[in-house]
Amino acid sequence: MKLSIYQRRLLIYLVALGFSCFPAFGQKKTINQRVDSLLKLMTIEEKVGQLNQYSGREVTGPVTSRQTYLLNDIKAGRVGSMLNVHGVKDTREIQAVALQSRLKIPLLFSMDVIHGYKTVFPIPLAEAASWDLEAIRTSAHIAAKEAAAVGLHWTFAPMVDVGRDARWGRLMEGAGEDTYLGSLIARARVLGFQGEKLGGTDAVMACAKHFAGYGAAIAGRDYNAVDMSNQLLWEAYLPPFKAAADAGVATFMNSFNTLNGIPATGNSYLQRDILKGKWGYKGFVVSDWGSIGEMVPWGYAKDEKDAAFKAIIAGSDMDMEAEAYKKNLATLVKEKKVDIKLIDDAVRRILYKKFELGLFDDPYRFSNAGREQKVLNDPQHKLVARDVAQKSIVLLKNEKQVLPLSGAVKTIALIGPLGKSKRDLEGSWIPLSDTSLVTSVYEGLRSKINPSSQIIHAKGCDITDNGQAGFAEAIAAAKQADVVVMALGESYDMSGEAKSRTDIHLPGKQEELFEAVQATGKPVVVVLMAGRPLIFPKITEKASAIVYAWWLGAEAGNALANVLTGEYNPAGKLPISFPRSVGQIPISYSMYNTGRPVKNPKDIKYKSAYIDSPNSPQYGFGFGLSYTTFSYSNPKISKTTIRSTESAELSFTISNTGNVAGEEVAQLYIQDEIASVARPLKELKDFIKVALKPGESKEIHFNINREKLAFYNSILQWTAEPGNFKLMVGASSDDIKFIQKLELK
Ligand code: NOJ
Repeated sequence: MKLSIYQRRLLIYLVALGFSCFPAFGQKKTINQRVDSLLKLMTIEEKVGQLNQYSGREVTGPVTSRQTYLLNDIKAGRVGSMLNVHGVKDTREIQAVALQSRLKIPLLFSMDVIHGYKTVFPIPLAEAASWDLEAIRTSAHIAAKEAAAVGLHWTFAPMVDVGRDARWGRLMEGAGEDTYLGSLIARARVLGFQGEKLGGTDAVMACAKHFAGYGAAIAGRDYNAVDMSNQLLWEAYLPPFKAAADAGVATFMNSFNTLNGIPATGNSYLQRDILKGKWGYKGFVVSDWGSIGEMVPWGYAKDEKDAAFKAIIAGSDMDMEAEAYKKNLATLVKEKKVDIKLIDDAVRRILYKKFELGLFDDPYRFSNAGREQKVLNDPQHKLVARDVAQKSIVLLKNEKQVLPLSGAVKTIALIGPLGKSKRDLEGSWIPLSDTSLVTSVYEGLRSKINPSSQIIHAKGCDITDNGQAGFAEAIAAAKQADVVVMALGESYDMSGEAKSRTDIHLPGKQEELFEAVQATGKPVVVVLMAGRPLIFPKITEKASAIVYAWWLGAEAGNALANVLTGEYNPAGKLPISFPRSVGQIPISYSMYNTGRPVKNPKDIKYKSAYIDSPNSPQYGFGFGLSYTTFSYSNPKISKTTIRSTESAELSFTISNTGNVAGEEVAQLYIQDEIASVARPLKELKDFIKVALKPGESKEIHFNINREKLAFYNSILQWTAEPGNFKLMVGASSDDIKFIQKLELK
């Protein structure tokens, strides 16, 4: 029997692979060697196949009907990865098709597991409010465990885009406005998703997205252009990506936007110069859904072939759903327009990950029915979801200590469209919605309060209702109650991808409903649920208490009941500023002094001010109350002058001055007073979450070193300039307790 050249190569490869599995017969090959051996066997079409990613079904974007040829493409080795195929049964079936291909290269199965697979955790923006990196890491790890048990290898998370525009619906998926907090959370999530080491069956590959600038879409409109200085890009938007890369994130996803005129997908500066160049990143970059093709409507590529050319040159390795690579890359190589080395580099990066995950040793290792059953039904997951949900809740107001609800309360009126809702509490971006696993606010409260107390429920209105037909029933319920709890907010599909809003007031007639209920004179506790900061001036002014609960996931009702009854003392702090009006957007605490700062709010003539609003947000970054009170005292600094190789220690005491145990997040902000580039008034540089019993005090230390004083100068060098610095410690960005000065020599 005469073997063809491919068959001979294949034989050599299989023998080599065999040897690599049995080290007793030979030296175990490194992944790089295994990748190289395989690459040598591949045709150009098979190589391009590895760069092609298809969606299994219509879940997260428009799919042309390709089911008929999908399987044939997989069998022909023309597909490297599938998204939205999940579950042991489906992943096994589709993997079996891939294994019929000539080289039997396994597929990567991927999905948007953003805040849980089966167990729905709070949305990422909510979890960011916990300022609890360990809790965030644990939540990501459990999401990964469940994903890895249903045949998935890869989640398209975390989204590490900094966002300062509450109109942008995708804020819900990120960690808020701050670069420092966002970088630590990026790291925590990557480590949570990827576990100890890639390849464990309790972990999946993570994906840092969307590279880069996506959160700064002009006017908060999704998919819009982004225009920003390199200064801002490096200073505010890139660090969370760098943190993810440093934490070992396996993949990156580029973004839909242009950055200063160049689509991110075709952006060599971002992908080749920064990511794969300066940062030495070894993982691979997937495009966003169809974003290679979208360079045509952007007016950056003349047709799909040109788009494929520009994307591969710029360093986009895998084509999600555009089919531009599949249809054009081989031709571009044959026409000598694209160097085969670029294709090889992209394929190598992808194959490396497949080896690292162990898929060549066992393509089905993530698709085990027994594990699927066991992991998805682990009762522990629910408890973790409740824990992180509690930690994500922010108490914005608590007049006359109406909260926690007294055990003596006999009748509670639960009013509002979200009182019994379940689907909304899960939020957007969930792979499976199973509302039977969700505890509503009503159910949570009912199970927590005294069985002899009663809850009268009245919806009052729907979320986007225009009418007031349900108001009378709500008012009647309030009149019978000792206290009213109102559950108001957005529906789950009002924040998320393609969910930008120009008006971020509480939707529909909900604030009117609040006013009508509040007019009864009963104490009103408002629980607000949403995927973004909302504007709610009447509630701010008149509610007795306000609890910001975001979308807390399946355990929302239990977590809220624990907070409302005082079983859990809220400690969340806002990870994003809440504007007073849309006109203030984009808004961030890290603003500049300007040449005309407002010193006295009554004197704003020719000052950098609005004539119809204060500059300050309604609720500042880092703000959140507790059922107890804390005092900050005894600030000290170990040195008032340091050299750039030295550090100083800033210390102070925090005391719990109230009657219940609680946790406080103390925050360190720094300002370089005079620099070669004007610096923001405050930048978060450290924080600590400390638990204190009533009457207890703890001494806190923040280390101040060169790194905390540095910034990008006008030629983008990370530098700390000699001079004076203000070190500010506070309970929030707008509640600074003391200031110390430090000089850098
Ligand atoms: C588009 C989104 O922008 C991206 O974040 C997501 O991962 C992909 N669709 C896949 O669903």
